[in-house]
Amino acid sequence: MGEKWVLMKTAQTPTNIAVIKYWGKRDETLILPVNDSISVTLDPAHLCTTTTVAVSPAFQQDRMWLNGKEMSLSGGRYQNCLREIRKRAREVEDKERGIKIEKKDWEKLHLHIASYNNFPTAAGLASSAAGFACLVYRTNGFGFDAVFALAKLMNVSEDESQLSAISRQGSGSACRSLFGGFVKWIMGKEDDGSDSLAVQLVDEKHWEDLFIIIAVVSSRQKETSSTSGMRESVETSSLLQHRAKEVVPKRTIQMEEAIQNRDFASFAKLACADSNQFHAVCLDTLPPIFYMNDTSHRQVLIYICWFLLGDVGEKNMYKTKEVLIEMVKSWLWDIVVLGSIPVKSRDMNLWRTTSQKSVI
Ligand code: ADP
Ligand code: DP6
Ligand code: CO
Repeated sequence: MGEKWVLMKTAQTPTNIAVIKYWGKRDETLILPVNDSISVTLDPAHLCTTTTVAVSPAFQQDRMWLNGKEMSLSGGRYQNCLREIRKRAREVEDKERGIKIEKKDWEKLHLHIASYNNFPTAAGLASSAAGFACLVYRTNGFGFDAVFALAKLMNVSEDESQLSAISRQGSGSACRSLFGGFVKWIMGKEDDGSDSLAVQLVDEKHWEDLFIIIAVVSSRQKETSSTSGMRESVETSSLLQHRAKEVVPKRTIQMEEAIQNRDFASFAKLACADSNQFHAVCLDTLPPIFYMNDTSHRQVLIYICWFLLGDVGEKNMYKTKEVLIEMVKSWLWDIVVLGSIPVKSRDMNLWRTTSQKSVI
């Protein structure tokens, strides 16, 4: 190995938003959840993380910059991901530049990682999901030439499901950014986490008329991170126990059915009920956690008004969307960023008009 080279790989990964929420771990280190969860992966054109990983013999230690600011890699989660990928690293050769890294060299070589989120970090838009997924692997089928970040740099041959399990140890929700469309994270029963896996329920083409509108009501960092919030909920909320044992198992089945049948009325009702119950668990935590503000409470009301109006049939979709957007616009001063699965070109204009006013 010469001393003056740098090898780099860049990956881009979308975030995902849960419609059945993961809230609570039964194992903090392996990140094993207390219930199944279901999410929808957003279009990376709107919300995504871009991560570049670099390796060079000139680097003295592993370092990471998040949105341009250096951060500590000492946390167990980063270490777990790096360790698991390093274990699987293989020989890499760049013949053109005369660089060869042998398997054993990876133990000595240090990494520099630079990651950017194009949406607010730690504000409730699942930056940890896109962030850890991006660090470890890429997602499929979004029509751009994404590459695995660490896994690609280190020539790791594991399949995506194993890479998903590694990124789960960075942040639980990250394992669901493996696929597009709707994804279920099966909680599993084993203590070693071997059956706690993400599976794709349907791909992004299954429900093309479904649009996700993300209204950023505050881009400030949350006061309580998901990790510590759910830890406190597990310790103190009896509603969480009831939710995990009694509510989510039934709701997951209903949600899967609604998704399979593209039944928007049921889908919306279930997603809204689940989100509200998640916030109820936060309130039931000691000390209580508040993730919603006045604007987000109003939004929930708009949402409920909207589906109570019942005008959610496929043929009325466009009218409904426009009405919704007008309502959202009139209620929010901060504006709307959109992700969808996927955005169709004829709808892009509608969204672009709105996105131009985005504060992101
Ligand atoms: P969010 O709702 O945004 O997921 P969390 O509290 O779950 O909020 O996680 C936020 C944390 O995730 C950040 O403080 C940071 O440690 C980590 N994170 C966010 N973005 C990235 C990224 N691009 N790469 C690596 N880690 C990230
Ligand atoms: C409310 O995956 O961010 O977004 O595993 O501790 O990193 P850690 O937590 P995280 O929790 C996400 C919580 C949620 C619901 C969800 O995405 O399912
Ligand atoms: Co998160």
